[in-house]
Amino acid sequence: MTRPKVKNPRNRLINFRLTDAEYAEIRRSAELYGFDSLSDYLRYLYTSGSDVSDVKDTIPLYEVAEPEVYTETERGTIYLGDALGLLNRTLKPASVDLIMTSPPFGLVRKKSYGNEDADKYVEWFKPFAEGMKRVLKDKGSLVIDIGGAWKPGMPTRSLYHFELLISLCRDNGFHLCQEHYWWNPSKLPTPAEWVNVRRIRVKDAVNCIWWLSKTPWPKASNKRILAPYSESMKSLLKNGYKPKLRPSGHDISDKFGKNNGGSVPPNLLAVANTESNGVYQNYCKANDLPVHPARFPARLPEYFIRMLTDEDDFVVDPFGGSCVTGEAAEALNRRWACCDLNEEYLKGAVSRFVGVKPKLPKPDAVPYQVFPPCSLAGSTDDSALSNNGGFKRTPRTPKQKSMRLL
Ligand SMILES: C[S@@+](CC[C@H](N)C(=O)[O-])C[C@H]1O[C@@H](n2cnc3c(N)ncnc32)[C@H](O)[C@@H]1O
Repeated sequence: MTRPKVKNPRNRLINFRLTDAEYAEIRRSAELYGFDSLSDYLRYLYTSGSDVSDVKDTIPLYEVAEPEVYTETERGTIYLGDALGLLNRTLKPASVDLIMTSPPFGLVRKKSYGNEDADKYVEWFKPFAEGMKRVLKDKGSLVIDIGGAWKPGMPTRSLYHFELLISLCRDNGFHLCQEHYWWNPSKLPTPAEWVNVRRIRVKDAVNCIWWLSKTPWPKASNKRILAPYSESMKSLLKNGYKPKLRPSGHDISDKFGKNNGGSVPPNLLAVANTESNGVYQNYCKANDLPVHPARFPARLPEYFIRMLTDEDDFVVDPFGGSCVTGEAAEALNRRWACCDLNEEYLKGAVSRFVGVKPKLPKPDAVPYQVFPPCSLAGSTDDSALSNNGGFKRTPRTPKQKSMRLL
């Protein structure tokens, strides 16, 4: 049987000579990266802008075990094991449309002084970042939800999440499409020592979400994530708008009065993280399993999956925890994979898929309220600011201090 003609036939052949050692090394790299042929691997290196020396430097890091398949659903796979293996061995290069994840940030809390925590975190993340770059398609996105951290015993903040962002762009060549901020209105006022006792810092209620991509043009549409119009916008749409020059100098045209079905949301995502008795929590409680302590609300993956992927696209969460990302992806008809090191978390996570149809949270159009700064006029404390970090007790004298040491 004759082969059908292809549109772009590969009819140019090049020959180049390699030493046995070079050939063995390229072949080994191609296998390690999951390519079926040397030519596919070389084509990948060419189109991804990497060079062979990058690959050589990083290979030893990737000699990690592949995670095992823990459970499969209609559209997804849950893996048990190290995400390093998933990203650098199990998944095919350039196969993923969206990586939506919240990596562990406990490392920072365990460290004690200075910037070392941030440096160590970035170092630790590097092989994961390289794996993420490897598996992402050129039009794909990487979305990282990452909480900030206080330096131990200090009312100052670690820079680790900013350093991570800079390293992902400078060292790994990712592009920052847009930073988002997740405001959790139900966050408790912590750390209590700085916020409630000394009153020298405010409530820490915002996580950073870095939306990155391999090229400056990932697939995206804000039409997929429109927000309800405000009451004032609704009345403007009803009563019409007169084009005029705003005090800010912006010339607002009559297009502003067009009903687009909803407003383009800001990059501040207001979502309370309060779910306490859904199917997942009830299953964990009934089976004496730990409820994952650092889950993100399903609305976060829902928002990015809707905006950045189409049906049947492939969504991956390498630090999957309780598989919230998998649940949102399955409900939105995307293919997906989640991975976690801790089997206890995965035992609970399967309850999201077995015997139930994964579903998204109900649309909830009740807005949260944030007051403009300084709107509680007349009842604030105007007494002089303290110079001792808000420490109310009289500081101990040197004599008292030395007695305590005895
Ligand atoms: C912040 S949690 C993610 C929670 C998840 N977004 C959810 O909503 O349930 C980070 C997870 O990464 C997992 N983890 C840490 N190191 C890992 C690694 N090398 N490979 C895979 N998972 C890892 C931890 O067990 C933890 O469950």
